[in-house]
Amino acid sequence: MERKEAEERIRELSRELEEHNHRYYVLAQPIISDLEFDFKLKELEALEKEWPEFASPNSPTQRVGGDITKGFETVAHRYPMLSLSNSYSREEVSEFVARVEKEIGSTIYVMELKYDGVAISLSYADGELMRGVTRGDGEKGDEITANVRTVRSIPLKLRGDFPKELEARGEILFMRAQFDKLNAERAKNGEELYANPRNTAAGSLKQQDPKDVAKRGLDNFIYTLQGEHLPTKSHYGNIMAARTWGFKTPDPSRRFIERANNVEGIMAFIDHWDKARHKLEMDIDGIVIKVDDLRIQEELGLTAKSPRWAIAYKFQAEQAATRLNDVVCQVGRTGAITPVAELEPVLLAGTTVKRASLHNADQIAKLDLHIGDTVLVEKGGEIIPKIVGVVIERRSKDASMVLFPQVCPECGTELIRLEGEAQHYCPNEHLCPPQITGRIEHFVGRRMMAIDGLGGETVQELVNARLIGNVADLYELKKEQLLELGKGWGEKSAQQVIAGIEASKKIPFEQVLFAIGIRHVGETVAKKIARGAGSMQRLAAMTPEELVQLDEVGPVIAESIVDFFAVQGNRDIVDRLRQHGLRMELDPSEVVVAGDKLKGLTFVVSGVFRNFSRDGIKETIERNGGKVSGSISSKTSYVLAGADMGPAKRTKAEELKGTRHR
Ligand code: IVH
Repeated sequence: MERKEAEERIRELSRELEEHNHRYYVLAQPIISDLEFDFKLKELEALEKEWPEFASPNSPTQRVGGDITKGFETVAHRYPMLSLSNSYSREEVSEFVARVEKEIGSTIYVMELKYDGVAISLSYADGELMRGVTRGDGEKGDEITANVRTVRSIPLKLRGDFPKELEARGEILFMRAQFDKLNAERAKNGEELYANPRNTAAGSLKQQDPKDVAKRGLDNFIYTLQGEHLPTKSHYGNIMAARTWGFKTPDPSRRFIERANNVEGIMAFIDHWDKARHKLEMDIDGIVIKVDDLRIQEELGLTAKSPRWAIAYKFQAEQAATRLNDVVCQVGRTGAITPVAELEPVLLAGTTVKRASLHNADQIAKLDLHIGDTVLVEKGGEIIPKIVGVVIERRSKDASMVLFPQVCPECGTELIRLEGEAQHYCPNEHLCPPQITGRIEHFVGRRMMAIDGLGGETVQELVNARLIGNVADLYELKKEQLLELGKGWGEKSAQQVIAGIEASKKIPFEQVLFAIGIRHVGETVAKKIARGAGSMQRLAAMTPEELVQLDEVGPVIAESIVDFFAVQGNRDIVDRLRQHGLRMELDPSEVVVAGDKLKGLTFVVSGVFRNFSRDGIKETIERNGGKVSGSISSKTSYVLAGADMGPAKRTKAEELKGTRHR
C-alpha cells in the first residue's frame, strides 16, 4: 500500500471504529457484528504497525490498551474538583432549597443519580481527548490518560458542535453485570473475590498496564462540564448537548436526570430512586440536587470545600440486626485464612443474609465479637454484607469471645502471620487438603495451563481418589486410571483430559510461571518476571536484591519468590514439570539480543513520540544491553523526553543534570 493510501485508510478506519464504538457503548444500538468490528480493528492495528507515524494516541486501537505507565504523573486541575455536602434526611434537602430560595428566589433544580464510582476529569482540545486525571485531593490528581482511553463509553474524539476547549467530569464505574462477571471468573480461577464495584473500579484505574484495565470493562457517566465556551447557561442544557458530542450522559427517559421547580418535585425523584435503585444496573449511593442556572450557581458560590448550589442526598445503607451463630475459617488456595461469620438468616435489602465476611483477625478483635452477639449487618455498595457493630447491651454475661484459631482448621498446622500482612496463613502448602486442590485447580485454569476437561469438581474427584496430590502428578496420569474411576468417565472424557494435559506442555513459560502459584505472583507480574529472568532456573537462583530490579517486583514479591524456591517440595515439583516437558524458559523469539552498546546505561523514556512507540524504544534499549527505569534518579544516564512529558519529571531531570555519577 502506498503511504498516502495507508494514511487515508487509517483515518477512515479510525473514524468508522469510533462511530461503531459509540453506537455500541453509548447508544446501545450497534449496526455491525462484533466479528466485523474485530476485523476492522485488526486491519487498523496492522496498518498502524506498518505506518507508526500515522498512529494517533486517540486511535481506537488504544481502547485495548496502549503503553505501560510506570508511576502516574501528578497534575494540577485547571478548575478544582470539589465535593458535595452530604445530607441524610429529607428535612436537610428542604433546608437546602429554603436557603437557596431565600437568597435568589424560586429557581429550577436538576436532580441526578449519585454514581458510586471514581471521579474523573477529562480534558479535550479541538475535540481530542488530551488528558484523564483522577480527583486526587481536589487540587491535583493522577494523570491516567492511557487507562481512561480503554473505557469504551468515553469518547476519544468528539463529534458535532463541541467547544474548542472543554473539561468533562464524571464517574468511572462498573456496571453490576460486568462486576459479577469479573468475580465469577476469579472464583473459577481460585482467586480472591473483589469486595465491591467502587473499590475495584478505583483499583482497576491504578493498574500500570492499560491492557489490564481494558480487560476489566469499566463504564462511565458524565455529570458536569467546565469550560469558557459552554453552549448554554443551563446545566441540564449542557448535559444534553454533551450527549450529542458523544458522551454517555444520564438518560432523561429513564429518569436518570430530571428537572423540578419546587421541593415536591425533588422529593418525588428521591422517592422513586429510594425504591428503584436496587434494580438499577449500577450502584448509586444517593441523589444529587443542583441549581440549574450557571449564573445563579456562580452567585451562590462555594463554601470551603463544596458548592452552595448543590447537595447530595445519601441513601441510608441498609442495616439489619441478627444473631452471630459462629465464626468459621476458610482456607484458600495459597493458605490464606478468611474468617466468615455465620449468622441467623435475616432479610436485608431484598436478599436473605446468612454469612458475612470478617476479613482477618484484626477485624474480629476490633469488633470484640462474642458468639451469640446481636450484630449489625450492613449492605452498602458491597455484594458481601459486612458486620459494622455489636449491640453490647444485648450480650449475655457468659458469652464467649471469638478467638482466632492458632492452627489450621483443615490440617491442624500452626498458622503464621507475616510481618506487615493482615492475613494469617497455613504454611502446610503440600499437605493441607484445600490448598492441594486449590493449587491444582488454579494450575489447570484457563489463563494458566488451560487444561480442557479439568474443572473444580474433577480435580476434587482425582484428589479424593488419590490419583493426584500435586500439579506434577497430572503429567503421570493414565487414561486407564481415569476409566477405572467408573461413574461419569468414558473413553471420550478420559481421552479429552489426557489430551488436554499433553497439550498444556506447549503453554508459554510466563503462563507456567503464573500457574505454579507463587504467592503474590499474578498474571501480569508473572509476565514481567518471565521477561526479566528468562528462565525458571535463573529465577530460582536470583537473590532478593536481583529480584527487585525486575519490572513490577517489590520487596514483598521478591521475598515470596525466594521463599517458594527455598522449599524442597516446590523445587521437586518444578523439576518434575521440567522433566515432563513443560516450558521452563522464554521462547527464543522473545529474547532477541542485538548487542551491548548501551551496557551500563540507564534510560528513562517519558512522553509521546511522533515516530516510535514508547514500548518499541524501551525494547530497543534493552535489546542493546541498556536498562530502562520508570523514574528519574541520580542513576539515570539519559532521559528520552517526548512531547507531553510531565512537568514534575522535567524539573527533576533539570535538577539532576550534571550531578550524575558514573
Ligand atoms: S457533581 C461540586 N454529580 O460525588 C460538585 N457528583 O462529593 C461536583 N458524584 O467526587 C460533583 N455522582 O465523583 C456530581 N451526579 C453527580 C455525581 C457526583 C457522583 C461524585 C463525584 C464527587 C462526589 C461528590
